[in-house]
Amino acid sequence: MTLRDDAKRVRENAYAPYSNFKVGAALETPSGNVFVGVNVENVAYPEGTCAEAGAIAAMIAAGETKFSKAYVIADAPSPVPPCGGCRQKLAEFAADGATVTMATLEGTEKTVTIPELLPGAFDQGHMDRT
Ligand code: THU
Repeated sequence: MTLRDDAKRVRENAYAPYSNFKVGAALETPSGNVFVGVNVENVAYPEGTCAEAGAIAAMIAAGETKFSKAYVIADAPSPVPPCGGCRQKLAEFAADGATVTMATLEGTEKTVTIPELLPGAFDQGHMDRT
């Protein structure tokens, strides 16, 4: 099983009755473990959560705090980019040199680093004066 297989398979479990846009995410940690997540929507729309957030929650719950590879997949015309909020969430838990691969169901992929995904990220260093 590849990370793509994991993300593609879990995507089928996404709960997206409002957007009909199912997203699957898979995170591989430096230890080789894989954690998956899907988007979970809600009739109160802002309460929905993204696939990346679900995968991060699963990783943290299992006691790991860093991923080295992320894979995000949806049935989109071009590789599906994580939303702005998820870019910040991914940045929080990325190991040095981590990559994020965005993909379509057909197999088109785009792989980027965290600084490419979130240039000028807000980080701990910005709070040095507190
Ligand atoms: N969505 C994700 O789960 N991840 C992304 O990176 C982009 C958007 C979800 C949120 C919502 O359930 C649906 O896709 C449409 O925005």
